[in-house]
Amino acid sequence: MNTVMEMKDWKVNYGEVTVLNDVNIAFPENRITALIGPSGCGKTTLLKSLNRLLDEEVSAQTQGEITFKDRSIKDFHCETLRQKIGIVFQTPTPFPFSIEKNMAYALDYHFAMDRQNKKNLISEKLKLAGLYDEVKDRMDLSATNLSGGQQQRLCIARSLTLNPDVILLDEPCSSLDPKATAKIEETLLRLAQEITIIIVTHNMAQAKRIANHVAFFIDGELVEYQPTNDFFNHPQKEETRQYLEGLIG
Ligand SMILES: Nc1ncnc2c1ncn2[C@@H]1O[C@H](COP(=O)(O)OP(=O)(O)OP(=O)(O)O)[C@@H](O)[C@H]1O
Ligand SMILES: [Mg+2]
Repeated sequence: MNTVMEMKDWKVNYGEVTVLNDVNIAFPENRITALIGPSGCGKTTLLKSLNRLLDEEVSAQTQGEITFKDRSIKDFHCETLRQKIGIVFQTPTPFPFSIEKNMAYALDYHFAMDRQNKKNLISEKLKLAGLYDEVKDRMDLSATNLSGGQQQRLCIARSLTLNPDVILLDEPCSSLDPKATAKIEETLLRLAQEITIIIVTHNMAQAKRIANHVAFFIDGELVEYQPTNDFFNHPQKEETRQYLEGLIG
């Protein structure tokens, strides 16, 4: 199993407060890794570290190293890095434009593509995100008119337009019902055949259903990182057992 991204002794402070402490973790390529842990343990900060969104936080100071394909992420231009490492947030964030324009936005910014190529690529990514059949006849509709689950799949499809190697998802299903959640999970399982997925989730059942590995954090420390079966069935640490029994968090 290849490692696509790795954190080495990664530490993040906001002012005086340490929110991630000496985290060492390697993310396997084309697998789904779930990040779990109590609110405030640093999961979002970890995701934002990986594509350098954290660079935009003035109060954040970092130590250690993160690599993408064995190169320090600092050696990439932020824009290049963020093309390769997409992010999808908790609340769906479609632009207030048509479905078509949402999908074309990054492509128009980065490339001069002819109309037909662009159309094909958009259809391909919508199919991959499991949304194509639901929107193919109404690409002019404002994206904000879609249901929450459809909006979230659109955001996933949109993040795919630049052919990322990694997609980071921060609790993408927390505002969705079980049926919409199931569609997103299907999409993620399909994507993981060719893309690395790193997903923050508060839903243990979801982690069990889709993740290959689970990483558990408390107070900025990586407590346990295991293949999903071992994590849930044979946790090594007392804190993990307590968390899974609902005694922490
Ligand atoms: N810009 C910031 N400035 C100062 N402190 C921050 C900032 N962003 C986050 N924090 C603090 O850092 C800690 C980790 O926050 P983070 O958002 O990474 O946690 P989380 O695990 O994603 O939590 P949740 O499950 O609630 O989303 C929290 O104590 C939070 O209040
Ligand atoms: Mg968070």
